[in-house]
Amino acid sequence: MIRPILKYGAPELEKESLPVTDFNDQLRQLAQDMLETMYAAPGIGLAAPQIGINLRLIVIDLSSGEEKGSQIVMANPQILHQEGIQKGEEGCLSIPSFTAIVERPLKVRVEGQDLEGRRMQIDAEGLLSRAFCHEIDHIDGILYLERISPLKREMIKRKIKKLMKAGEW
Ligand code: NI
Repeated sequence: MIRPILKYGAPELEKESLPVTDFNDQLRQLAQDMLETMYAAPGIGLAAPQIGINLRLIVIDLSSGEEKGSQIVMANPQILHQEGIQKGEEGCLSIPSFTAIVERPLKVRVEGQDLEGRRMQIDAEGLLSRAFCHEIDHIDGILYLERISPLKREMIKRKIKKLMKAGEW
């Protein structure tokens, strides 16, 4: 089921999410809904708080559903190791129609659990590293706006406020 994506301003987006402890059918349904919602947007990553569920669950697919086998679903993801720096344009489904340059690690090693609760580890580089960092930030209640220059941040926030006032957000 496609769920509505919360936008900047929703309190769920700025809360720290709770660890996943029950690897049951309900969790699998949530992951399925998150994938459908991400593909419909379309996007390349989504975290549970973006659909109003403050649980540490993320989905990523750099191909946005175009390639089989590029789908990643991870519960309780953690960055074990990071290396290098990349600067690049980043957007977020919860902050539609805006982007900004965000600095991220070039490479990360991420550990988490699959939907059965089994440990998994992924070495990510480039865009995949960026996607993991962005989605892990979401479950910590952090939006990329916190990682850009104050000037750019205020500019985007000001424009969003205008959109909110106009009822267009
Ligand atoms: Ni996002």
